[in-house]
Amino acid sequence: MTPRRIRIEQLSSREEFQQFARLPYQIYAGRDAWWPPDVQNEIDLLSGRARITAHLDLCPFAAWSDDRLVARVSAVVNYRYNEHWNEKLGQLIHFDALPGEPDAVAAMLEEAMTWLTRRGMKAARSGFAAFLDYPYAIDNYGALPSFLLRGNPDYYHGYLKNARFMTEKGQVDYTAPLTPDHLERYRRMTEAARAAGVVIRSWRDYGFLAAVDVWTDVTNAAFARHWGWNSITREEVRPMLTPLQSTLVADLSMIAEIDRSPVGAVFSTPDLSGTLALVRAGVKLPPERGGGARGALINIGVLEAARSRGVARAMAAHSYLAMARNYMRFAGYTLVLDDNWPSRRTAESLGARVTGNFVAYRRDF
Ligand SMILES: CC(C)(COP(=O)(O)OP(=O)(O)OC[C@H]1O[C@@H](n2cnc3c(N)ncnc32)[C@H](O)[C@@H]1OP(=O)(O)O)[C@@H](O)C(=O)NCCC(=O)NCCS
Repeated sequence: MTPRRIRIEQLSSREEFQQFARLPYQIYAGRDAWWPPDVQNEIDLLSGRARITAHLDLCPFAAWSDDRLVARVSAVVNYRYNEHWNEKLGQLIHFDALPGEPDAVAAMLEEAMTWLTRRGMKAARSGFAAFLDYPYAIDNYGALPSFLLRGNPDYYHGYLKNARFMTEKGQVDYTAPLTPDHLERYRRMTEAARAAGVVIRSWRDYGFLAAVDVWTDVTNAAFARHWGWNSITREEVRPMLTPLQSTLVADLSMIAEIDRSPVGAVFSTPDLSGTLALVRAGVKLPPERGGGARGALINIGVLEAARSRGVARAMAAHSYLAMARNYMRFAGYTLVLDDNWPSRRTAESLGARVTGNFVAYRRDF
């Protein structure tokens, strides 16, 4: 057998970015249901037009095997992240690859890591970068993952481990069935918080635009020491969240106040599988995965001074009650670090159970 001709390139033209952004269609299009990439958004990021790129040095790489595009990855130095954590950590985001191409994938990952070392990075992480990348699934292969999460094929792990990556962090995704018993429990949680002086309002009732800014401030403060996180500005968040003003996000997301001062924020979405997922004609998604029945709590934070007083529990309970009023039968509680016990206890106190498992990888140079 003649060996394949492997070519690794750094990409720079718009046509190449387009090809890069569309590679997932080759990998996932055979699925019954999957979340396609936002191609335009990705091209904006690669071409430096997205606002977030002001903090990044970013280089997309692609691997061709016998002139066929078979793998992609972007090497990123996130200066804001490294300053915050006083680290020299590079990130490998956008990793995707076709099966049966170990040599091309290995060569591409090596080139991307060389690019990082030339910029003084001491390690690389793949599978978590705030607002840029999400972890690799280690179960539910082939099923539609929760909104925002990867539904990668199983062979990705072999590619990454062959490139000497090791598991750095585990994360879990929870699902709570919105049964009458659970809804009753949520009402009690909201009552208890109200009696304790915690005022919780949806973003619609709070004023959506004001709520977006409060979410940014509370999240930056609450997540300051959360692994993997870096802060984000109001100017970056507004264009991402403002377009959601007229959607159910406004009714499902919450702000908590004590003495008229914001202490907590939740960002939740309705089931987006009908609008954003590609679902093969005739396929009916199980209700705990989508099809209009699964809402998702994406992010929850409480300021340190207000913790352990039931604020998180009550905000999530408000959000889940609003999902139930809008005909959702399941609620996600998305992506918690294995060792984030305050958050895991919050999920469990809402009757949620682990339904998906994920990892982020790291290689020290
Ligand atoms: C996770 C977080 C939102 C919890 O907020 P909170 O308002 O303190 O939580 P609550 O008071 O509502 O408590 C909810 C559950 O967590 C438990 N809990 C709260 N703090 C805890 C701690 N430090 N250790 C262990 N369990 C804790 C509570 O006992 C309660 O469980 P129970 O009902 O079984 O008693 C808050 O710690 C936070 O903002 N952390 C930083 C950001 C973060 O990690 N967000 C979640 C990302 S997935």
